[in-house]
Amino acid sequence: MRNPYLPYPVRIADVCIETEDNNLRSYWLEFLHEEDAANFQYIPGQFAELSIAGFGEIPIGIASSPTEGNKLLFTVNKTGVVTEKLHTMLAGDIMGVRGPLGHPYPLKESEGKNIVIVAGGFAVTTLRSTMVWLLDPANRSKYGDITFIYGARTPGMLLYQEEMRTWQGQEGLDCRITVDREAEGWDGLVGFVPAVTEEVSPKPDNAVALVCGPPIMIKFTQPVLDRLGWQGDQIILSLENRMKCGIGICGRCNVGPHMVCKDGPVFTKAELDELPKEY
Ligand SMILES: Cc1cc2nc3c(=O)[nH]c(=O)nc-3n(C[C@H](O)[C@H](O)[C@H](O)COP(=O)(O)OP(=O)(O)OC[C@H]3O[C@@H](n4cnc5c(N)ncnc54)[C@H](O)[C@@H]3O)c2cc1C
Ligand code: FES
Repeated sequence: MRNPYLPYPVRIADVCIETEDNNLRSYWLEFLHEEDAANFQYIPGQFAELSIAGFGEIPIGIASSPTEGNKLLFTVNKTGVVTEKLHTMLAGDIMGVRGPLGHPYPLKESEGKNIVIVAGGFAVTTLRSTMVWLLDPANRSKYGDITFIYGARTPGMLLYQEEMRTWQGQEGLDCRITVDREAEGWDGLVGFVPAVTEEVSPKPDNAVALVCGPPIMIKFTQPVLDRLGWQGDQIILSLENRMKCGIGICGRCNVGPHMVCKDGPVFTKAELDELPKEY
């Protein structure tokens, strides 16, 4: 059996600055060895541990979709030791990827259903993966209507903007991109994500909602979904607890009896309601 702590060596194929504050960068990573790419079979919602020799290892959600080929996309916010180092790295540099880790979004179980995605800020990464996966011609017909609601503070803080523009207007897809305040040059929606969710009022019938964003967004979106009749087992959330091993061994990420790295990071709202509020 392969040592689960051993990262696959990868090369940075491309780097792009995503946001106007320069704090979020996207990295396309390519495996150095073809057999490693074949071993790294993932589903949207999973994450990986990114490692930089001499600096450490960090859990980051996988933003690419397996339908896009062997390269992996990660979008990283500059917050501390490892992420600051990563922000100095360029195309051609070598680093490590360990994974895929954790449970994915329940896409197989949601076949035949309408999908509602509600995202805020840079938590949209694994939902970008989900959208690309859902919109792939091989998958699209397995699902009903898709509603995608995504917001950021300003237009310059929206991730993957060009790509999201290509989603707008697609049949069976209601795509709402919003910013918190009016801004020069922005002729799109203005308003907080919970308000836009209220306006769209997605129906819970035969549907599942994937909700990912900052705690304040979740706090105000939840009552909107409650009023619309959504049940706890139809709402899927993703946690970002501090982690170490990523494989359920060290106990660093536990919430009650669950290890978020292994049993999550994806949980239903009903499951989280049963747990102590340690997340
Ligand atoms: C499943 C999962 C998916 C994630 N996906 C992404 C992603 O797609 N993009 C992204 O930018 N980040 C993501 N994160 C958060 C990311 O792991 C942390 O920002 C990173 O570990 C910080 O490492 P550092 O060495 O740069 O910072 P450190 O030097 O370790 O810490 C700097 C600051 O960041 C805070 N911090 C560290 N880890 C976390 C954490 N897990 N949650 C909240 N605050 C933290 C610390 O409290 C400290 O204030 C994810 C975390 C998890 C668990
Ligand atoms: S990070 Fe070690 S058990 Fe989850």
